[in-house]
Amino acid sequence: MPTLKINGKTLDVQAEPDTPLLWVLRGELRMNGTKFGCGMALCGACTVHLDGEPARSCVTPISAVGARDITTIEGLKGAEADALKAAWVDLDVVQCGYCQSGQLMSACALLRKTPRPSDTDIDQAMSGNLCRCGTYPRIRAAIHQAARKKRA
Ligand code: FES
Ligand code: FES
Repeated sequence: MPTLKINGKTLDVQAEPDTPLLWVLRGELRMNGTKFGCGMALCGACTVHLDGEPARSCVTPISAVGARDITTIEGLKGAEADALKAAWVDLDVVQCGYCQSGQLMSACALLRKTPRPSDTDIDQAMSGNLCRCGTYPRIRAAIHQAARKKRA
């Protein structure tokens, strides 16, 4: 039985090793914060962290996860995450919301590595996260605001 470390807990799962992580999160574990968009690593809705790095869970079989720490939107914590969530609310970033957990996962990984990101840093880090509602300008502004708050 495969074992996964998710949000600090070690869990045994029933799924076959070639099952994509997203299927396990949503279907088996009922952790529905991580979204299914394209299933082809094209939209970013399914973004989680593996050892802190953003990863597309729709194309990551659980056999490829190994012993790495999986973080989902439900377990996203820390100073950067708190600053981002506050900025998201403050600037009313969300429209339909579907893409937003993936956006926050990518934004958080960016801020942890690059505390003072430029517009170019943001555009590069966020380029794999699509938003059909076009919230990109508010996402960028919220990342800048979170970065400023975090430094203050
Ligand atoms: S659902 Fe994984 S990238 Fe679109
Ligand atoms: S907020 Fe609707 S898809 Fe991004």
